[in-house]
Amino acid sequence: MTADAARPNDDSANTPASGALAASPFLLACRRRPVPHTPVWFMRQAGRSLPEYLRVREGVPMLESCTRPDMIVEITMQPVRRYAVDAAIFFSDIMVPLKAIGVDLDIKPGVGPVIADPIRTAADLDALRPLVPDDVPYVTEAVQGLAGELGTTPLIGFAGGPFTLASYLIEGGPSKNHERTKAMMYGAPELWASLLDRLADLTIAFLKVQVAAGASAVQLFDSWVGAVAAVDYRESVLPHTRRIFAAMEPLGVPRIHFGVGTGELLGPMGEAGADVVGVDWRVPLDEAVSRVEPGKALQGNLDPAILFAPWEIVERRARDVLARGRTAEGHIFNLGHGVLPSTDPDVLARLADLVHEASTEDRLQ
Ligand code: CP3
Repeated sequence: MTADAARPNDDSANTPASGALAASPFLLACRRRPVPHTPVWFMRQAGRSLPEYLRVREGVPMLESCTRPDMIVEITMQPVRRYAVDAAIFFSDIMVPLKAIGVDLDIKPGVGPVIADPIRTAADLDALRPLVPDDVPYVTEAVQGLAGELGTTPLIGFAGGPFTLASYLIEGGPSKNHERTKAMMYGAPELWASLLDRLADLTIAFLKVQVAAGASAVQLFDSWVGAVAAVDYRESVLPHTRRIFAAMEPLGVPRIHFGVGTGELLGPMGEAGADVVGVDWRVPLDEAVSRVEPGKALQGNLDPAILFAPWEIVERRARDVLARGRTAEGHIFNLGHGVLPSTDPDVLARLADLVHEASTEDRLQ
């Protein structure tokens, strides 16, 4: 550990994470504090790439598994046992809060979320009532259970971002071009704003439940917002995202903001109020540093498909991500998007070890 790394972590004194947890490399990096090694975790680290996940999930539909605290705890812990990751991510789905308030939806294997009655008119908005903690008792119970099991490993809570949730609701399922979604955004701005307002409230409530129960950080997955031009993002999405991050501020946990294909949006996304901006694999981290306003840590950004290349290539590319990440005020190593289902877990294990070893060596030089 360098002398820098021993500096007291003074700005975390008022946060829920105290003592050993607050000194975890992941939370330190989120706060742009010195770290003993670059922390690493993987989006979708729990899931289909793990044989133990497939065994536990056998015969249990996705959304049902998200309502069973024992299953949530087990699946969240699986990658933590396997890999030297510096954080766990809560096993759930961005659609869970919508299901919890009564929206008729399913997650179909190989397809994704499918909505029975898409939201397309002002009257349809009535389906989106506010979420209260009693709607998701299984989330509270599972997070509390995990806080005990994880010890000094932080738990990341998460929710879907407003554009991504709106797209599933309006299209009725996954969409390549988001045409109905954008038609509402461009053509019915008042309806669009009311919808995103309700979704922002839902997201705030869902994230608050997770933090109240013991989550140490939160990530907002606005996965598909990269489909929006920067000028429209600023006008039609940013105000809602900003409200979400502002509402989370008093809770004192680091806030991460992620989307795919967001190279052109990194500037405005950096203005939304998160502490950490997630970067997909298309923009090198040193370039992302110049696009995001100062005062942010970055998370990312190895191409998840690189894990299918020979190890020498994986290693070279991972070292390159680390080197570029050192130009950021704080860096959390991750993939540029989620772990692909056919990824070899042994490669992820080796990658987590490499990130720790290589970043420790760097700091000793
Ligand atoms: O390990 C983790 O990262 C935590 C778990 C997690 C899941 N979904 C579990 C899941 C997280 C963080 C999510 C978020 C999520 N869900 C996002 C944002 C992240 C991203 O990838 O951009 C999105 C867009 C969704 C919606 C969704 N849910 C999709 C597109 C799918 C895949 C459908 C398919 O079969 O291809 C899901 C299902 C889902 N969510 C699975 C898992 C592990 C796979 C379902 C299964 O195992 O049967």
